Amino acid sequence: MIILGIETSCDETAAAVCKDGTVLSSVVASQEDHARYGGVVPEIASRSHERLLLETVNEALSRSSLKKNDLDGIAVTRGPGLMGALLTGVSFTHGLALGLNIPSIGLNHMEAHIFANFIAYPELQFPFLCLLVSGGHTQIWRVEELGEYELMGETRDDAAGEAFDKGARILGLGYPGGVEIEKAAQDGNPDKVAFPRALFNTDVVEFSFSGLKTSLLRHVEMKGGTLPRSELSDVAASYQYAIVDVLLSKLSLAIDKTQIKTALIGGGVAANKLLRKKAEQDFPDSTILYPELALCTDNAAMIAFLGEIYLKRGNQTDHTHSVIPNLRLSS
Ligand code: KG4
Ligand code: ZN
Repeated sequence: MIILGIETSCDETAAAVCKDGTVLSSVVASQEDHARYGGVVPEIASRSHERLLLETVNEALSRSSLKKNDLDGIAVTRGPGLMGALLTGVSFTHGLALGLNIPSIGLNHMEAHIFANFIAYPELQFPFLCLLVSGGHTQIWRVEELGEYELMGETRDDAAGEAFDKGARILGLGYPGGVEIEKAAQDGNPDKVAFPRALFNTDVVEFSFSGLKTSLLRHVEMKGGTLPRSELSDVAASYQYAIVDVLLSKLSLAIDKTQIKTALIGGGVAANKLLRKKAEQDFPDSTILYPELALCTDNAAMIAFLGEIYLKRGNQTDHTHSVIPNLRLSS
């Protein structure tokens, strides 16, 4: 089965082609225009998707050496995400699927982040845990099988990616914040500043990052509003370490509570090298998996891949399926 995947939920315009579980091509056109605003501007995102989508889809088809008429179906992100941004991808999908007379399916972006791990590890067995960490989500899921998800806990306020993005803004660094803080933290001393770790030694699988962000803001204010270069790497390293420490301590708690020894990490923050390295060190008795970097941040390969699984099972929405900006995986 040959599936075209389309992803436009936030600021990446992405298209990919998947055939029988193998990703043939994956193209991501990152929108540069947001960087100077220090975050994603929804109206700019929608307009950029409109401008970039057709050429991105054509590029994905061309790199797969296939033509539109070879497609058996189209999968698109229908939520969660920015309303206008989602609408560009879903409307495009409706038009193309109707024109080609093939089925289309609207998918949950977060579910696709989880299943991106199956691209790297096709032999993965259920059940497993998944730490989902992105710009808008920080959650731990217990995954029994495709479509059966139990939320073990999530953040009470900011998401981990948001903590990176807001932290980068406070430090005068660029966007995306996670990438910038990771760069600035290189060679820094993670023990230099004792940033708070909320809910750390408690028995709840929940997160809170807003106090950490405020603590960084106070630290920078105390230094007069900007950090000298000599201190930036230590502060960035300490801030990054505090986020990673909390994420992994809660993953450890979830493993203890469920005794499920396989845990995946998915979403943009899963690209963080410290998180990946520390996860490998901290869990000698468990199997911790995460996808390659390009499959952590937003991409359409994960959409095409999950779309094929659903379309093969006969699931498909009709051509009127629409966007759900606050779509949840399960209640
Ligand atoms: O999954 P994603 O690409 O988009 C959403 O679905 O939100 O995640 C974006 C988030 C941003 O907050 C970004 O700062 C963070 O992922 N991120 C990182 C890294 N690369 C992206 N955070 C930490 N380290 C990274 N290397
Ligand atoms: Zn994402």
